[in-house]
Amino acid sequence: MHSRRQFLTRSAQAAVALTLARHQAFASAAQKSGLADVYKEDFLLGTALSTHTLAEKNTQVLDLVAREFNAITAENCMKWGVLEPEPGQWQWGPADEFVNYGQEHNMAVVGHTLVWHSQAPLWLFKDEQGNPISKAALQERVEQHINRIMGRYKGKIHTWDVVNEAVDEDKGWRQTGFYKILGPDYMEQIFRLAHAADPNAHLIYNDYNMHDPHKRAFLVDVFKGYRQREVPIHGVGMQTHVGLDYPDLKEFENSMKAYIDLGLALHMTEMEVDVLPVAWEFTGAEISTGFEYSDQLNPYADGLPDKVQQQLTDRYVQMFELFLKYRENIARVTLWGTSDAESWKNNFPVRGRSNYPLLFDRDWQAKPAYHALKKLKTEA
Ligand code: G3I
Repeated sequence: MHSRRQFLTRSAQAAVALTLARHQAFASAAQKSGLADVYKEDFLLGTALSTHTLAEKNTQVLDLVAREFNAITAENCMKWGVLEPEPGQWQWGPADEFVNYGQEHNMAVVGHTLVWHSQAPLWLFKDEQGNPISKAALQERVEQHINRIMGRYKGKIHTWDVVNEAVDEDKGWRQTGFYKILGPDYMEQIFRLAHAADPNAHLIYNDYNMHDPHKRAFLVDVFKGYRQREVPIHGVGMQTHVGLDYPDLKEFENSMKAYIDLGLALHMTEMEVDVLPVAWEFTGAEISTGFEYSDQLNPYADGLPDKVQQQLTDRYVQMFELFLKYRENIARVTLWGTSDAESWKNNFPVRGRSNYPLLFDRDWQAKPAYHALKKLKTEA
Protein backbone atom coordinates (compact mmCIF):
# COMPACT_ATOMS: atom_id res chain seq x y z
CA MET A 1 0.00 0.00 0.00
CA HIS A 2 2.80 2.29 1.01
CA SER A 3 4.75 1.76 -2.21
CA ARG A 4 1.57 2.04 -4.26
CA ARG A 5 0.92 5.40 -2.65
CA GLN A 6 4.49 6.45 -3.39
CA PHE A 7 4.04 5.32 -6.97
CA LEU A 8 0.80 7.25 -7.31
CA THR A 9 2.39 10.36 -5.85
CA ARG A 10 5.41 10.01 -8.14
CA SER A 11 3.30 9.49 -11.23
CA ALA A 12 1.07 12.38 -10.19
CA GLN A 13 4.17 14.54 -9.79
CA ALA A 14 5.41 13.53 -13.22
CA ALA A 15 2.02 14.40 -14.70
CA VAL A 16 2.09 17.76 -12.95
CA ALA A 17 5.62 18.46 -14.22
CA LEU A 18 4.36 17.82 -17.74
CA THR A 19 1.34 20.04 -17.24
CA LEU A 20 3.47 22.81 -15.81
CA ALA A 21 5.83 22.56 -18.75
CA ARG A 22 2.79 22.94 -21.03
CA HIS A 23 1.60 25.98 -19.06
CA GLN A 24 5.04 27.57 -19.23
CA ALA A 25 5.39 26.87 -22.94
CA PHE A 26 2.02 28.54 -23.42
CA ALA A 27 3.19 31.61 -21.50
CA SER A 28 6.48 31.79 -23.40
CA ALA A 29 4.79 31.54 -26.78
CA ALA A 30 2.76 34.71 -26.30
CA GLN A 31 4.66 37.70 -27.76
CA LYS A 32 3.68 40.60 -25.55
CA SER A 33 5.35 43.33 -23.59
CA GLY A 34 3.42 43.53 -20.33
CA LEU A 35 3.85 42.09 -16.85
CA ALA A 36 2.97 38.54 -17.95
CA ASP A 37 5.85 38.69 -20.39
CA VAL A 38 8.26 39.48 -17.58
CA TYR A 39 7.10 36.37 -15.68
CA LYS A 40 6.69 34.11 -18.71
CA GLU A 41 9.46 31.73 -17.66
CA ASP A 42 7.90 31.38 -14.21
CA PHE A 43 4.12 31.06 -14.41
CA LEU A 44 1.09 32.36 -16.23
CA LEU A 45 -0.06 35.76 -15.01
CA GLY A 46 -3.80 36.29 -15.18
CA THR A 47 -6.67 38.59 -14.35
CA ALA A 48 -10.42 38.23 -13.85
CA LEU A 49 -12.64 39.71 -16.54
CA SER A 50 -15.98 41.12 -15.48
CA THR A 51 -19.10 40.89 -17.62
CA HIS A 52 -19.22 44.70 -17.53
CA THR A 53 -15.72 45.02 -19.01
CA LEU A 54 -16.62 42.68 -21.84
CA ALA A 55 -19.97 44.34 -22.50
CA GLU A 56 -18.54 47.86 -22.52
CA LYS A 57 -16.18 46.92 -25.36
CA ASN A 58 -13.76 49.61 -24.25
CA THR A 59 -10.86 48.73 -26.52
CA GLN A 60 -8.34 50.63 -24.41
CA VAL A 61 -9.18 48.47 -21.41
CA LEU A 62 -9.39 45.24 -23.38
CA ASP A 63 -6.10 45.95 -25.14
CA LEU A 64 -4.44 46.70 -21.82
CA VAL A 65 -5.68 43.40 -20.36
CA ALA A 66 -4.45 41.51 -23.42
CA ARG A 67 -1.04 43.19 -23.22
CA GLU A 68 -0.47 42.73 -19.49
CA PHE A 69 -1.86 39.25 -18.88
CA ASN A 70 -1.73 35.86 -20.55
CA ALA A 71 -4.57 34.20 -18.62
CA ILE A 72 -8.16 35.26 -17.91
CA THR A 73 -10.79 33.99 -15.49
CA ALA A 74 -14.52 34.66 -15.83
CA GLU A 75 -15.33 36.77 -12.76
CA ASN A 76 -19.04 35.97 -12.91
CA CYS A 77 -20.33 34.96 -16.35
CA MET A 78 -19.70 31.20 -16.02
CA LYS A 79 -21.34 30.72 -12.63
CA TRP A 80 -24.33 28.41 -12.74
CA GLY A 81 -26.84 31.01 -11.53
CA VAL A 82 -25.66 33.48 -14.17
CA LEU A 83 -25.51 30.92 -17.00
CA GLU A 84 -28.85 29.27 -16.29
CA PRO A 85 -30.97 31.54 -14.05
CA GLU A 86 -34.11 29.54 -14.96
CA PRO A 87 -34.12 25.84 -15.91
CA GLY A 88 -33.04 25.52 -19.54
CA GLN A 89 -32.81 29.31 -20.07
CA TRP A 90 -29.14 29.41 -20.91
CA GLN A 91 -27.44 32.80 -21.12
CA TRP A 92 -24.35 31.97 -23.14
CA GLY A 93 -23.65 35.45 -24.55
CA PRO A 94 -21.12 36.81 -22.02
CA ALA A 95 -19.42 33.42 -21.52
CA ASP A 96 -19.02 32.97 -25.29
CA GLU A 97 -17.59 36.49 -25.56
CA PHE A 98 -15.21 35.78 -22.70
CA VAL A 99 -13.89 32.59 -24.28
CA ASN A 100 -13.60 34.22 -27.73
CA TYR A 101 -11.68 37.17 -26.31
CA GLY A 102 -9.22 34.81 -24.60
CA GLN A 103 -8.74 32.77 -27.74
CA GLU A 104 -8.31 35.80 -29.97
CA HIS A 105 -5.53 37.04 -27.72
CA ASN A 106 -3.86 33.67 -27.25
CA MET A 107 -4.58 33.64 -23.51
CA ALA A 108 -5.07 30.71 -21.15
CA VAL A 109 -8.82 30.75 -20.46
CA VAL A 110 -9.95 29.67 -16.99
CA GLY A 111 -13.50 28.40 -16.47
CA HIS A 112 -14.88 29.55 -13.12
CA THR A 113 -16.69 27.60 -11.80
CA LEU A 114 -18.64 24.36 -12.38
CA VAL A 115 -20.03 23.77 -8.88
CA TRP A 116 -20.31 26.43 -6.17
CA HIS A 117 -22.96 26.67 -3.45
CA SER A 118 -23.01 30.45 -3.77
CA GLN A 119 -24.60 31.79 -6.93
CA ALA A 120 -26.18 28.42 -7.61
CA PRO A 121 -29.63 29.09 -9.10
CA LEU A 122 -32.51 28.95 -6.62
CA TRP A 123 -34.41 26.36 -8.67
CA LEU A 124 -31.53 23.89 -8.59
CA PHE A 125 -32.36 22.15 -5.32
CA LYS A 126 -36.11 21.88 -5.97
CA ASP A 127 -38.20 19.63 -8.18
CA GLU A 128 -40.97 20.86 -10.54
CA GLN A 129 -43.44 21.01 -7.61
CA GLY A 130 -41.08 23.08 -5.50
CA ASN A 131 -40.22 20.18 -3.18
CA PRO A 132 -36.64 19.31 -2.20
CA ILE A 133 -35.02 17.43 -5.04
CA SER A 134 -33.93 13.77 -4.78
CA LYS A 135 -30.29 12.68 -4.86
CA ALA A 136 -30.69 10.96 -8.24
CA ALA A 137 -32.34 14.02 -9.80
CA LEU A 138 -29.65 16.39 -8.52
CA GLN A 139 -26.95 14.02 -9.75
CA GLU A 140 -28.50 14.15 -13.17
CA ARG A 141 -28.72 17.95 -13.14
CA VAL A 142 -25.09 18.27 -12.12
CA GLU A 143 -23.94 15.80 -14.76
CA GLN A 144 -25.93 17.53 -17.49
CA HIS A 145 -24.62 20.91 -16.42
CA ILE A 146 -21.01 19.76 -16.50
CA ASN A 147 -21.40 18.01 -19.85
CA ARG A 148 -23.15 20.97 -21.36
CA ILE A 149 -20.70 23.68 -20.35
CA MET A 150 -17.52 21.61 -20.69
CA GLY A 151 -18.79 20.23 -23.99
CA ARG A 152 -19.51 23.69 -25.37
CA TYR A 153 -15.99 24.94 -24.63
CA LYS A 154 -14.11 21.67 -25.07
CA GLY A 155 -10.50 22.29 -26.07
CA LYS A 156 -10.83 26.03 -25.42
CA ILE A 157 -10.52 26.10 -21.64
CA HIS A 158 -7.08 25.84 -20.15
CA THR A 159 -8.13 25.14 -16.55
CA TRP A 160 -11.46 24.48 -14.86
CA ASP A 161 -12.23 25.50 -11.28
CA VAL A 162 -14.27 22.35 -10.84
CA VAL A 163 -15.51 22.83 -7.29
CA ASN A 164 -15.33 26.13 -5.44
CA GLU A 165 -15.23 26.72 -1.67
CA ALA A 166 -16.53 23.36 -0.45
CA VAL A 167 -14.70 23.42 2.87
CA ASP A 168 -15.30 25.40 6.04
CA GLU A 169 -12.26 26.48 8.11
CA ASP A 170 -13.34 24.71 11.30
CA LYS A 171 -15.99 22.19 10.39
CA GLY A 172 -14.72 20.30 7.36
CA TRP A 173 -17.19 19.91 4.50
CA ARG A 174 -19.38 22.98 4.13
CA GLN A 175 -22.99 21.98 4.63
CA THR A 176 -24.21 23.04 1.19
CA GLY A 177 -27.16 21.74 -0.78
CA PHE A 178 -24.72 19.69 -2.86
CA TYR A 179 -23.17 18.11 0.22
CA LYS A 180 -26.47 17.41 1.95
CA ILE A 181 -28.20 15.90 -1.06
CA LEU A 182 -25.37 14.21 -2.96
CA GLY A 183 -23.51 12.98 0.11
CA PRO A 184 -20.01 13.34 1.55
CA ASP A 185 -18.24 12.07 -1.57
CA TYR A 186 -19.95 14.59 -3.84
CA MET A 187 -16.76 16.48 -4.73
CA GLU A 188 -15.10 13.27 -5.83
CA GLN A 189 -18.10 12.45 -8.02
CA ILE A 190 -17.93 15.90 -9.59
CA PHE A 191 -14.23 15.62 -10.45
CA ARG A 192 -14.91 12.27 -12.09
CA LEU A 193 -17.77 13.75 -14.12
CA ALA A 194 -15.61 16.69 -15.20
CA HIS A 195 -12.80 14.38 -16.28
CA ALA A 196 -15.21 12.22 -18.24
CA ALA A 197 -16.64 15.31 -19.95
CA ASP A 198 -13.20 16.50 -21.09
CA PRO A 199 -10.35 14.07 -20.38
CA ASN A 200 -7.73 16.65 -21.46
CA ALA A 201 -8.90 19.43 -19.15
CA HIS A 202 -6.72 20.57 -16.23
CA LEU A 203 -8.99 20.29 -13.19
CA ILE A 204 -8.51 22.14 -9.92
CA TYR A 205 -10.19 22.64 -6.55
CA ASN A 206 -10.45 26.35 -5.59
CA ASP A 207 -10.87 27.92 -2.13
CA TYR A 208 -10.03 30.91 0.08
CA ASN A 209 -8.22 31.01 3.46
CA MET A 210 -6.02 28.21 2.21
CA HIS A 211 -3.32 29.22 4.71
CA ASP A 212 -5.62 28.10 7.54
CA PRO A 213 -4.05 25.05 9.27
CA HIS A 214 -7.42 23.34 9.88
CA LYS A 215 -8.53 23.78 6.31
CA ARG A 216 -5.12 22.60 5.10
CA ALA A 217 -5.17 19.47 7.29
CA PHE A 218 -8.69 18.61 6.15
CA LEU A 219 -7.92 19.11 2.47
CA VAL A 220 -4.62 17.23 2.63
CA ASP A 221 -6.53 14.28 3.98
CA VAL A 222 -9.16 14.55 1.27
CA PHE A 223 -6.55 14.82 -1.50
CA LYS A 224 -4.56 11.86 -0.14
CA GLY A 225 -7.72 9.79 -0.45
CA TYR A 226 -8.15 11.12 -3.99
CA ARG A 227 -4.65 9.99 -4.89
CA GLN A 228 -5.37 6.48 -3.56
CA ARG A 229 -8.67 6.27 -5.40
CA GLU A 230 -7.24 7.91 -8.53
CA VAL A 231 -9.70 10.78 -8.52
CA PRO A 232 -8.76 13.04 -11.44
CA ILE A 233 -7.66 16.26 -9.73
CA HIS A 234 -4.61 18.08 -11.08
CA GLY A 235 -4.20 21.19 -9.02
CA VAL A 236 -5.27 23.42 -6.16
CA GLY A 237 -6.41 27.01 -6.41
CA MET A 238 -5.34 29.17 -3.50
CA GLN A 239 -7.54 32.23 -3.95
CA THR A 240 -5.10 34.59 -2.18
CA HIS A 241 -7.49 37.30 -1.04
CA VAL A 242 -4.94 38.84 1.29
CA GLY A 243 -4.44 42.05 3.26
CA LEU A 244 -1.43 44.13 4.21
CA ASP A 245 -0.75 42.04 7.30
CA TYR A 246 -2.73 38.85 6.87
CA PRO A 247 -2.43 35.96 6.44
CA ASP A 248 0.77 34.83 8.13
CA LEU A 249 2.97 34.02 5.14
CA LYS A 250 4.60 31.12 6.98
CA GLU A 251 1.21 29.42 7.17
CA PHE A 252 0.53 30.30 3.56
CA GLU A 253 3.85 28.73 2.55
CA ASN A 254 3.14 25.65 4.68
CA SER A 255 -0.04 25.13 2.69
CA MET A 256 1.79 25.59 -0.61
CA LYS A 257 4.29 22.94 0.43
CA ALA A 258 1.59 20.55 1.63
CA TYR A 259 -0.20 20.63 -1.74
CA ILE A 260 3.06 20.42 -3.69
CA ASP A 261 3.99 17.32 -1.70
CA LEU A 262 0.77 15.71 -2.88
CA GLY A 263 1.82 16.24 -6.48
CA LEU A 264 -0.71 18.98 -7.16
CA ALA A 265 -0.03 22.02 -9.33
CA LEU A 266 -0.54 25.33 -7.54
CA HIS A 267 -2.67 28.13 -8.92
CA MET A 268 -2.97 31.49 -7.16
CA THR A 269 -6.42 32.15 -8.49
CA GLU A 270 -7.94 35.37 -7.14
CA MET A 271 -5.20 37.53 -5.70
CA GLU A 272 -5.63 41.07 -4.43
CA VAL A 273 -4.32 42.99 -1.41
CA ASP A 274 -7.00 44.70 0.69
CA VAL A 275 -5.64 47.92 2.28
CA LEU A 276 -8.70 48.88 4.33
CA PRO A 277 -9.40 48.28 8.04
CA VAL A 278 -10.59 44.73 8.65
CA ALA A 279 -14.26 45.03 9.52
CA TRP A 280 -14.17 41.90 11.59
CA GLU A 281 -11.78 39.12 12.36
CA PHE A 282 -12.86 37.30 9.25
CA THR A 283 -10.35 37.52 6.41
CA GLY A 284 -11.82 35.24 3.80
CA ALA A 285 -14.21 35.66 0.94
CA GLU A 286 -17.50 34.21 2.15
CA ILE A 287 -19.85 36.61 0.47
CA SER A 288 -22.94 36.03 2.57
CA THR A 289 -21.85 38.45 5.30
CA GLY A 290 -21.98 42.26 5.28
CA PHE A 291 -21.28 45.30 7.47
CA GLU A 292 -22.72 48.79 7.95
CA TYR A 293 -20.75 51.57 6.25
CA SER A 294 -18.89 54.08 8.41
CA ASP A 295 -16.27 56.73 7.49
CA GLN A 296 -13.93 55.06 9.95
CA LEU A 297 -14.02 51.94 7.84
CA ASN A 298 -13.36 53.98 4.68
CA PRO A 299 -10.29 56.09 5.53
CA TYR A 300 -8.92 56.59 1.99
CA ALA A 301 -11.97 57.91 0.19
CA ASP A 302 -9.89 60.83 -1.18
CA GLY A 303 -6.87 58.79 -2.24
CA LEU A 304 -4.27 56.41 -0.89
CA PRO A 305 -1.56 58.01 1.32
CA ASP A 306 2.01 57.40 0.11
CA LYS A 307 2.80 55.38 3.20
CA VAL A 308 0.01 52.89 2.51
CA GLN A 309 0.87 52.83 -1.19
CA GLN A 310 4.35 51.74 -0.15
CA GLN A 311 2.95 49.06 2.17
CA LEU A 312 0.81 47.77 -0.67
CA THR A 313 3.85 47.65 -2.98
CA ASP A 314 5.93 45.85 -0.36
CA ARG A 315 3.21 43.29 0.21
CA TYR A 316 2.93 42.50 -3.50
CA VAL A 317 6.69 42.11 -3.74
CA GLN A 318 6.78 39.88 -0.65
CA MET A 319 4.08 37.63 -2.09
CA PHE A 320 5.69 37.41 -5.53
CA GLU A 321 9.04 36.56 -3.93
CA LEU A 322 7.27 33.63 -2.34
CA PHE A 323 5.69 32.65 -5.67
CA LEU A 324 9.07 32.80 -7.41
CA LYS A 325 10.55 30.56 -4.73
CA TYR A 326 8.02 27.88 -5.76
CA ARG A 327 7.92 28.75 -9.47
CA GLU A 328 8.58 25.11 -10.40
CA ASN A 329 5.24 24.16 -8.88
CA ILE A 330 3.12 27.21 -9.70
CA ALA A 331 1.13 27.07 -12.90
CA ARG A 332 -0.49 30.49 -12.65
CA VAL A 333 -0.92 33.62 -10.56
CA THR A 334 -4.18 35.44 -11.30
CA LEU A 335 -5.25 38.85 -9.95
CA TRP A 336 -8.94 39.21 -9.13
CA GLY A 337 -9.40 42.10 -11.54
CA THR A 338 -7.19 44.70 -13.21
CA SER A 339 -8.21 48.17 -11.99
CA ASP A 340 -9.13 49.27 -8.46
CA ALA A 341 -12.31 50.73 -9.95
CA GLU A 342 -13.74 47.29 -10.67
CA SER A 343 -12.70 45.35 -7.56
CA TRP A 344 -15.38 43.53 -5.55
CA LYS A 345 -13.39 44.76 -2.52
CA ASN A 346 -14.98 48.23 -2.90
CA ASN A 347 -18.23 46.64 -1.76
CA PHE A 348 -17.20 43.80 0.49
CA PRO A 349 -17.65 43.30 3.37
CA VAL A 350 -18.84 46.93 3.57
CA ARG A 351 -20.61 48.56 0.63
CA GLY A 352 -19.38 51.83 -0.88
CA ARG A 353 -15.76 51.97 0.25
CA SER A 354 -12.70 52.98 -1.80
CA ASN A 355 -10.26 50.12 -1.81
CA TYR A 356 -6.94 49.94 -3.69
CA PRO A 357 -6.19 46.22 -3.95
CA LEU A 358 -5.00 45.76 -7.56
CA LEU A 359 -2.10 46.71 -9.82
CA PHE A 360 -3.85 49.44 -11.86
CA ASP A 361 -5.52 52.53 -10.40
CA ARG A 362 -9.00 53.89 -11.09
CA ASP A 363 -7.73 55.52 -14.31
CA TRP A 364 -6.25 52.19 -15.43
CA GLN A 365 -2.72 53.47 -14.86
CA ALA A 366 -0.04 51.12 -13.52
CA LYS A 367 0.58 51.61 -9.80
CA PRO A 368 3.92 51.51 -7.95
CA ALA A 369 3.24 47.86 -7.07
CA TYR A 370 3.09 47.02 -10.79
CA HIS A 371 6.45 48.67 -11.43
CA ALA A 372 7.97 46.97 -8.38
CA LEU A 373 6.88 43.54 -9.68
CA LYS A 374 8.53 44.27 -13.02
CA LYS A 375 11.68 45.42 -11.26
CA LEU A 376 11.69 42.33 -9.06
CA LYS A 377 12.24 40.20 -12.15
CA THR A 378 14.23 42.48 -14.40
CA GLU A 379 16.76 43.34 -11.69
CA ALA A 380 16.94 39.86 -10.18
O1 G3I B 1 -25.15 42.10 -12.54
C1 G3I B 1 -25.96 42.57 -11.43
C2 G3I B 1 -26.57 43.89 -11.78
O2 G3I B 1 -27.45 43.71 -12.86
C3 G3I B 1 -27.28 44.44 -10.53
O3 G3I B 1 -27.76 45.71 -10.81
C4 G3I B 1 -26.34 44.52 -9.34
C5 G3I B 1 -27.04 44.93 -8.07
O4 G3I B 1 -26.33 44.53 -6.91
O5 G3I B 1 -25.80 43.22 -9.12
C6 G3I B 1 -25.06 42.72 -10.23
O6 G3I B 1 -24.57 41.46 -9.92
C7 G3I B 1 -23.50 41.41 -8.99
C8 G3I B 1 -22.31 40.76 -9.69
O7 G3I B 1 -21.29 40.55 -8.74
C9 G3I B 1 -21.76 41.59 -10.84
O8 G3I B 1 -21.27 42.81 -10.37
C10 G3I B 1 -23.95 40.57 -7.80
O9 G3I B 1 -24.95 41.26 -7.09
C11 G3I B 1 -22.77 40.30 -6.88
O10 G3I B 1 -23.17 39.39 -5.88
C12 G3I B 1 -21.65 39.68 -7.69
O11 G3I B 1 -20.55 39.53 -6.82
C13 G3I B 1 -19.55 38.63 -7.27
C14 G3I B 1 -19.36 37.55 -6.20
O12 G3I B 1 -18.28 36.71 -6.54
C15 G3I B 1 -20.60 36.66 -6.07
O13 G3I B 1 -20.75 35.88 -7.18
C16 G3I B 1 -18.25 39.42 -7.46
O14 G3I B 1 -18.40 40.30 -8.58
C17 G3I B 1 -17.10 38.46 -7.72
O15 G3I B 1 -15.87 39.18 -7.70
C18 G3I B 1 -17.05 37.42 -6.61
O16 G3I B 1 -16.02 36.51 -6.90
C19 G3I B 1 -15.82 35.44 -5.93
C20 G3I B 1 -15.36 34.24 -6.70
O17 G3I B 1 -16.32 33.91 -7.69
C21 G3I B 1 -15.13 33.05 -5.76
N1 G3I B 1 -14.24 33.42 -4.70
C22 G3I B 1 -14.55 34.61 -3.94
C23 G3I B 1 -14.75 35.79 -4.89
C24 G3I B 1 -15.09 37.04 -4.10
O18 G3I B 1 -16.34 36.89 -3.46
